[in-house]
Amino acid sequence: MQYDSIDHVEKDISRIFMGTMAADSPEAADRIYGHFLENGGNGFDTAYIYRGGQSEELLGEWVERHDVREQVVLLGKGAHPPHCNPDAIGRQLLESLERLRTDHVDIYMMHRDDQAVPVGEFVEAVNVHIGAGRVGAWGGSNWDFRRVDAANAYAEEHGLQGLGALSNNFSLARMVRPVWDGCVASSEPAYHRWHVRTQMPLIAWSSQARGFFTDRAHPDKRSDESLVRSWYSEDNFRRQARAREMADRRGVEPINIALAYVLCQPFPTFPIIGPENPDETSSSLAALEVELGPEDLAYLDLEDGG
Ligand SMILES: NC(=O)c1ccc[n+]([C@@H]2O[C@H](COP(=O)([O-])OP(=O)(O)OC[C@H]3O[C@@H](n4cnc5c(N)ncnc54)[C@H](OP(=O)(O)O)[C@@H]3O)[C@@H](O)[C@H]2O)c1
Repeated sequence: MQYDSIDHVEKDISRIFMGTMAADSPEAADRIYGHFLENGGNGFDTAYIYRGGQSEELLGEWVERHDVREQVVLLGKGAHPPHCNPDAIGRQLLESLERLRTDHVDIYMMHRDDQAVPVGEFVEAVNVHIGAGRVGAWGGSNWDFRRVDAANAYAEEHGLQGLGALSNNFSLARMVRPVWDGCVASSEPAYHRWHVRTQMPLIAWSSQARGFFTDRAHPDKRSDESLVRSWYSEDNFRRQARAREMADRRGVEPINIALAYVLCQPFPTFPIIGPENPDETSSSLAALEVELGPEDLAYLDLEDGG
């Protein structure tokens, strides 16, 4: 495993985060989370709305049963629409902490933004919980980078803690249609330039494009509607072909090239993976051994016109 840090999180954080949308029983949590921890992973991404609260409960129960709270980095999210407002932040966070059986999350993210709300109101609302010791770092998931700049300018003016990380979509395949309403990807050139300039950490979701780089995705295979809708495009299939060719040359899987693409960006990245079993985790972790330089990234990005 590789580790990096994020301001206001007092532990080294594994470069790869475990997603928690898939596990649906204590046995699944034991199998998937236990194996991830044994392999050096300690970052877990969860949210108030996942599985109607079950994901937080399973994670909290697993952490308590194995007595690993000191070891793990919990990323919790809240204030998803229709409750994307300053009041819901505290109300949901307290409930999340109870489900997670802890008194704090290492990282708190607003799950969405509502640009109709003055950004300072969100900054103030989260800072109440930072002051109370319930939140370490905080950030936004599916946030526009211009709102992050505005929020951080407000925080600085008012002596408050600004956003220290983002959790937007980012993968080698571009999300052509949002997987869910209100999803934001950090892949567009303006976002990419902003991450490089600000070095804002990106905890990237659907970092493997939900399986697009496995044999499951092919222009003729159309049964997985959500994969087709969000990821099928000519450019993505060109990227897939290049990832396959590079994988053959290096003796790894195409999905390893896809995840290495996220890991090797010129700004801090922490891809979240969503394995459904330990074998998928092991296969994904092989990406940590793959080094991609600027020329490799440009080639995979079709910067030569593809
Ligand atoms: N902030 C947000 O708005 C947001 C949105 C989406 C997700 N997330 C977070 O991000 C996490 C991960 O997202 P994701 O599930 O979309 O991630 P992902 O890793 O891009 O996709 C997961 C899917 O890819 C397949 N897969 C994963 N690893 C594989 C491997 N090594 N080999 C073959 N297939 C593999 C699995 O499909 P099969 O097992 O079906 O083959 C799995 O269902 C979620 O659990 C959640 O915590 C956050």
